[in-house]
Amino acid sequence: MSPRYFTRRRFLKDVLSGGGLALGTPLALPGLLTACGGSGSPAAPPGNGVDGRFPLRLPDVTGVEALQLTGAPGIAEIGGGLEAPAWLLNGVLPSPRLEVRKGERMRVTLRNELPQDLILHWHGLAPPEAMDGHPRFAVGTGETYEYDFTVEDRAGTYWYHSHTHMHTAEQTYRGIAGLLLVRDDEEDALGLPSGAREIPLILQDRRVDAAGVPFYEPFGPAMMAGYMGPVPFGNGVRNPYLEVDTALYRFRILNGSNARIFRLGRSDSRPFVLIGNDGGLLDAPVELSTIDMAPAERVDILVDLRELRPGDRVMLRSLSFQMQGGMGFMAGQNLQGDPMDLLELRVRSEVADASVIPAALPPIIEPDPAEAAREREFRFTSQMMNHFINGRPFDMDRIDETVPFDETEVWSFVNESNFPHPVHLHATHFRVLSRTGGRGEVFAWERGRKDTVLLNPGETVRVALRFTAHRGLFLLHCHNLEHEDMGMMANILVE
Ligand code: C2O
Ligand code: CU
Ligand code: CU
Repeated sequence: MSPRYFTRRRFLKDVLSGGGLALGTPLALPGLLTACGGSGSPAAPPGNGVDGRFPLRLPDVTGVEALQLTGAPGIAEIGGGLEAPAWLLNGVLPSPRLEVRKGERMRVTLRNELPQDLILHWHGLAPPEAMDGHPRFAVGTGETYEYDFTVEDRAGTYWYHSHTHMHTAEQTYRGIAGLLLVRDDEEDALGLPSGAREIPLILQDRRVDAAGVPFYEPFGPAMMAGYMGPVPFGNGVRNPYLEVDTALYRFRILNGSNARIFRLGRSDSRPFVLIGNDGGLLDAPVELSTIDMAPAERVDILVDLRELRPGDRVMLRSLSFQMQGGMGFMAGQNLQGDPMDLLELRVRSEVADASVIPAALPPIIEPDPAEAAREREFRFTSQMMNHFINGRPFDMDRIDETVPFDETEVWSFVNESNFPHPVHLHATHFRVLSRTGGRGEVFAWERGRKDTVLLNPGETVRVALRFTAHRGLFLLHCHNLEHEDMGMMANILVE
């Protein structure tokens, strides 16, 4: 099978006939459709597409002790009954919403029924080397990979996705990505909004054909700027809406796009209360009316809807912004920084909600740059069709940096290109110390424990870090997935 999307008819024919693939499991389409329909109350009106928006899907929680995840081609319902070919884990889009408590064992058997190699990475967790989804562990069609480790990470909004070298962008775009929430006692004690008032939300942009079906066909400019499209998806549903009450909500948001940067804001300009990001809760809540999210970044926000009335509608949107440099303006590309209406909140009923926004959050321990044993520099360059770190493309078998275990270091990420690069590190979180050039500051949403930080053209971002979880070979890379696939990735040996 070609790595590019077929037309839908051709794809369906191939998928349904087996198409030469080792389809070990039936597609279970009816099950998929019912499993995906469960958003909102039974009284909620069905999405009809008259106003062009469809109910947000709220996936059930899946536990991780003895979980089998099978990656295979399938069909996903993406709003209003529209069916789209996709690559799915266990037949659902997005991938199952995993939840685990800190200290629990995670045992997952990945079974690969895709026509390409596959490996999964638990983004933001710090498991042992063999559990981290390094691309050298990718397994072929028909093979399995066993994950078995204890989750030692604090509560937070983590996620997981394909990490197959040269195929991460395509596989993640086609559907191999889901949320992984870790919970712990410290967070539980805060009494944050939960149940129907805790909304997991994966935001993604997609290019779609005339029928509205997403496709992945990167060409020259898309390989330089990354693959972007004009249609917003939430939890695998195009142009979603969510019925809400006049209450305080907690949104756990992931930017799961390949290349798109969102500037989150409310259409009524009211602020969010940011309580957490990549590595769990911040040490204090902060009110913000806009929050920038690059690919792979997460935010944990409280959204107060208590001042609204039934019938009101508020749009969670991406506001427009200017991206200096870059080539998003090229023909056929949707511009980085274009506004997008991401998720409409439709107030259904008035309820009394006396929830309190916490005034303080638990302290966090962060590496102290004053203790740094050494500094390192990583230069991000993009020329022609090449995206490199320190002048070199990724080589699976080359160790780029050897870093001592349990020593604090200060790293500088330097953007010498005309593209934004969301820089991501495996195996530990880091603390953002400074940003010089470009935007010239560290933003409120970049405090706390980060694993991904946006590096715009001309910027240098300094971070402090310390690998305290495991020794082994881990990765540093750009989370613009096209850039990553083209080599903007480095091997970091912690020893
Ligand atoms: Cu989310 Cu190495 O990636
Ligand atoms: Cu990661
Ligand atoms: Cu990049």
